[in-house]
Amino acid sequence: MPFPETGIPRDRLFKEMRERKQKDADWRGGRTWSLIYPAGEEVDAVLHEANNLYLYENALNPMRFPSLREMEVEVVGMTADLLRAPEGFEGCMTSGGTESILLAVKSARNRSRAERGVTRPELLAPVSAHPAFAKAAEYFGLELRQIPLRKDLRADVEAAERMLTDETALVVGSAPNYPHGVIDPIPELAALASARGISFHTDACVGGFLLPFFERIGRPVPPFDFRVPGVTTMSADVHKYGYCTKGASVVLHREKRHLREYQLFMYENWPGGLYGSFAMAGARPAAPIAAAWAILKYLGAEGYERLAARIIEAVRILREGIERIPELEIIGTPEASILAFGSSELDIMAVGDALDDRGWCADRQKDPEALHLMVSPEHDRVAESFVEDLRQAVRARGSSRGKQARYN
Ligand SMILES: Cc1ncc(COP(=O)(O)O)c(C=O)c1O
Repeated sequence: MPFPETGIPRDRLFKEMRERKQKDADWRGGRTWSLIYPAGEEVDAVLHEANNLYLYENALNPMRFPSLREMEVEVVGMTADLLRAPEGFEGCMTSGGTESILLAVKSARNRSRAERGVTRPELLAPVSAHPAFAKAAEYFGLELRQIPLRKDLRADVEAAERMLTDETALVVGSAPNYPHGVIDPIPELAALASARGISFHTDACVGGFLLPFFERIGRPVPPFDFRVPGVTTMSADVHKYGYCTKGASVVLHREKRHLREYQLFMYENWPGGLYGSFAMAGARPAAPIAAAWAILKYLGAEGYERLAARIIEAVRILREGIERIPELEIIGTPEASILAFGSSELDIMAVGDALDDRGWCADRQKDPEALHLMVSPEHDRVAESFVEDLRQAVRARGSSRGKQARYN
């Protein structure tokens, strides 16, 4: 595409952008089951205002923008409180779950090298762990070893124990995992790791801002946070169930020293002076920090509990609706906000296509083939009509194989 010779007027510019945007998924109508976590118009308005207020600032240098530094410290503090980090914790904000995971893996690698002399680090993560761990292993030179799953789709602890070696740098569990929404046996996995001086990461990117509120409103949640001995780091995404706009996650270390010694990058051999950074990025946008702070303060625990209750209700409607369709089965026993369902009788991908035709966007999965729903508060408005369309999609499935890309 040639670089434009002249600019175009604002009204034409935005007309074109709005036209292009028509092609995008209709998430405001609640018809998208992943990627965005709609929590209603009030939350939207707060996020808009907070983002606008900090559109230009740069979070690279906390000396220049002390308000940003304060907000980041407070977001980390509020998250640590939620996840029961003990006295002496430390953390920072990142651009998202993947960056939080990358930093946790890099820290664990450096720790294993410094404290245990590990030279060929291995990363033990369940098959169901997010690909960010595979990415981290590739970026930072670790060997990824995948822990198989038990029948209930949680990590197999006995298999994990057999896979531990002197070179294991990090063991991982998810709370919950993305594919099936189940929570790994965190206490058992963390105990294996800590008995050998190995780091353990709970990936609470999905559950970090959801499970604590489930617990507060009386729904049982298996242990997953810093109350579990041996959990050394955690990731929790404000841009998922914290309902923030994209670009906001938190990585926490149980021990302050680990952040300083193993995560921080410091460099002084250039004429620009001392350069220090906790994050992968250099320049960091300010808006996600401001929006994260704003939304946590705006909603407070009470607001998050209200939204968590809406999710529980939407999941109930969906789950019961799916269970009433004889051809479908829910995969595993989802514990939070994610539902995956498949079929041993019909081609579930064809059902996915029929849902697409009705304007729904559900992700596809494999092993086993399934459709995937990540439920947000606003889905309580559409859950019933989704179930009705799903019933029709099952009826209309025909015998054709799914025509869409089979997996996302
Ligand atoms: C369990 C889990 N961990 C990590 C991530 C990565 O988060 P992000 O997409 O913000 O990088 C995701 C994303 O869906 C996830 O579901």
